Amino acid sequence: MKGHHWQVGPEVGEILISTDEIQRRIDELGADISKDYEGLQPRLVGILKGVAPFMADLIRAMSIPATTDYMSITKYPPETDASAAVRVLKDLDLSIKGEHVLLVEDIIDSGLTIEYILSHLHNRGPASLKVCTLFNRPVNRVVELPLDYVGFDLPDLFVVGYGLDYQQKYRNLPYLAILQA
Ligand code: IMP
Ligand code: MG
Repeated sequence: MKGHHWQVGPEVGEILISTDEIQRRIDELGADISKDYEGLQPRLVGILKGVAPFMADLIRAMSIPATTDYMSITKYPPETDASAAVRVLKDLDLSIKGEHVLLVEDIIDSGLTIEYILSHLHNRGPASLKVCTLFNRPVNRVVELPLDYVGFDLPDLFVVGYGLDYQQKYRNLPYLAILQA
């Protein structure tokens, strides 16, 4: 049974990080962020679609006022020129000029997505710009990135659940599971 009670296909393997572990870590991240941004009102910018469950839990784990906004981007196939590897599908609704922006991601892998978004947002004059990711897989990193808040470092395994998808499926699993090849 592998511990699943959600209905999953045979491609979904062992649970890597349980619902409880995820919730406990998000509570810690929320407390850390609330302490670091005390007296400020940070703008949490989520990258759709995978960030939805994390963002929902993170903002409720924070004890200071915060505002939210979202961006959606698409990645071109890997063979495309790296400088044009990412394109904005949905930009921010609100101006970030003078705002304390915290980028919120589900997972950082190569780092190319977040690097593109950081440069895109940097030009708009935020007061500060930091990165919070729930999951981090350092082994595939191709750019050097300062990560300010990291929930969990992952091994070199493709994973699904808690926002992460395989062919758009399994984002609704409340835990993180290994996708079997
Ligand atoms: P990066 O540009 O390589 O850092 O890509 C990060 C994006 O790739 C994430 O926002 C996810 O959409 C996707 N991704 C990377 N690893 C996984 C995984 O293990 N499962 C599901 N999606 C992943
Ligand atoms: Mg994503």
